[in-house]
Amino acid sequence: MCGIVGAIGSQTCSPLLLDALKRLEYRGYDSSGIVTLDGSRFDLRRAVGKLVNLDAVLTQSPLAGTVGIGHTRWATHGGVSEMNAHPHVASDRVAIVHNGIIENYRPIRARLIEQGHKFSSDTDSEVLAHLFVEAFDAGLNPDQAMQKVLAEIDGAYAFAAIVEDFPDVIMVARNASPLAIGLGEDGSYIGSDATALAHLTRKVIYLKDHDYALVRADGVDIFLSDGTPANRETIIVAASLGMIDKGGYRHFMEKEIHEQPDAILNSLAGMTGEDGRISANMSREELQAIDGIVMLAAGTSHYASQVARYWIEGLARTPVACEIASEYHYRNPVTTGITTAIAISQSGESLDTLKAMRHAATCGLSTIGLVNVDGSTIAREADAILPTHAGPEIGVASTKAFTAQLTVLISFAVALAEAKGHIDAARADAIHDQLQALPGLVGKSLKLFDDLRPIAHQLKHARSTIYLGRGHLFPIAMEGALKLKELSYIHAEGFASGEMKHGPIALIEDDLPVVALLAADELMEKAASNLKEASARGGRIILIADERAVNDIDFEADIITVPAVDPIIAPILLTIPVQILAYLTALDKGTDVDQPRNLAKSVTVE
Ligand code: F6R
Repeated sequence: MCGIVGAIGSQTCSPLLLDALKRLEYRGYDSSGIVTLDGSRFDLRRAVGKLVNLDAVLTQSPLAGTVGIGHTRWATHGGVSEMNAHPHVASDRVAIVHNGIIENYRPIRARLIEQGHKFSSDTDSEVLAHLFVEAFDAGLNPDQAMQKVLAEIDGAYAFAAIVEDFPDVIMVARNASPLAIGLGEDGSYIGSDATALAHLTRKVIYLKDHDYALVRADGVDIFLSDGTPANRETIIVAASLGMIDKGGYRHFMEKEIHEQPDAILNSLAGMTGEDGRISANMSREELQAIDGIVMLAAGTSHYASQVARYWIEGLARTPVACEIASEYHYRNPVTTGITTAIAISQSGESLDTLKAMRHAATCGLSTIGLVNVDGSTIAREADAILPTHAGPEIGVASTKAFTAQLTVLISFAVALAEAKGHIDAARADAIHDQLQALPGLVGKSLKLFDDLRPIAHQLKHARSTIYLGRGHLFPIAMEGALKLKELSYIHAEGFASGEMKHGPIALIEDDLPVVALLAADELMEKAASNLKEASARGGRIILIADERAVNDIDFEADIITVPAVDPIIAPILLTIPVQILAYLTALDKGTDVDQPRNLAKSVTVE
């Protein structure tokens, strides 16, 4: 992960860079730093921990200079310390910031040390600064130095370098990690994404893999890694990127939970054709050509794919495989019967998912990117896009992007099923009606905060919890467990309710919290029996259910109900209390809800 920024122009750049870093803090918050070139002298400030610490350092000791680069770190190589915080400066001549991993850094570092280079960190990134020093020592100019360094390094990177001898240029390059260049009135800027630059400019160029660029105050020259000039489109990004604040909520996560009615509504609108019916923005023929699907995703997005499997197989009778992206990429998958890969990613930048999608493309599959971030790498590289319109998601734990993904996926399943003749127009329209009612029902479920508060208050004392669901609620159980563990650091596992008796039931002991999901569907009786089995062994059941599913409950449980819905959309609605429970438990425990320990959003390392 990590976020990188840079600015070169007529304004003092440090405040601009700090603002840009604040917009990237979701990418990592182990440490941060900014270096500027003041005249021909580097001036560096770094701080361990969140950006507020760097902010305080800069308030005490501001940085001058109109050229600079900055970084917010999610530690990979080298512990969390000021020494390992970026920017790294070598020989007082070159400063760099880097996102990614230089895989062959060890031999490079050993060679440079042998030649007398002095390293001051344990990071892989620092070799970049020393490689540039070596290139400039050999008399190369920035363009030549870039080609030499890029030829030597392997791995994933987006980096920026500034050089004492060439103060009118920021050197940047990317491979597999995102990088945007912003062209403004008063200068040029770089950032890991366009959101970082939204306060500076809306004119953005995205570099492609293996591109490098020389960014100057009045423009940019872009090249392929061998020095061939390259043309990249300038894009005007949406103005909405500029409006990111907590909107009066205590946390971004709380705000984003409350934004779900809009996220669902807007995402559904994106899947509705001009005739007012569900559409996947593909022709009937294109849909009919989809014979089998592999879904590629990570984390929460992977759980969205698992729910979608029930919908697509059930409605469209089309086989679906759900693959963890980081595993798929390194397999040699058999693609017989599979025509299409759907890469699901909120950020559109998760390296695992991006690489898995590329792998699927090389296996001959057509690719669809289901992404929330317009202009992201997956969006740009996929053959087709199914966008979610959840708006920027800043809380590290995904909430509104997940329910938006589910909304788009069920719509896609309906469009596919109708195109293939497996459901008729009446059934498609009935599901569409249910989906149109969903924002209102989600709005009602948002009132469950008060009901869930006492449950969260007890849950925070648990050392371990189990989440149970059956059928298409099984992935919601896994998502619920992920939300709880990542936010409140309480161990949590999601199981298929029917699988309990095959082993996990041994975990049940007196007072173990069991968060159970129940819908009024054909599996309700069986799922309720599984809960009874857990209750009989001392499990403390927290039942989150459709209001029609709780009438015959004959075991002790804390019961939280959502309004009755067609069982097919129950996974979306039941997600809301599951998210609120995790949020409130973390709040009660006093953990950092928006920036949980060890995590970062948009994971651009493998
Ligand atoms: C958990 C969470 C992560 C992400 C995962 C994939 O709350 O947010 O598990 O879902 O890192 O990220 P995207 O969807 O951006 O590819």
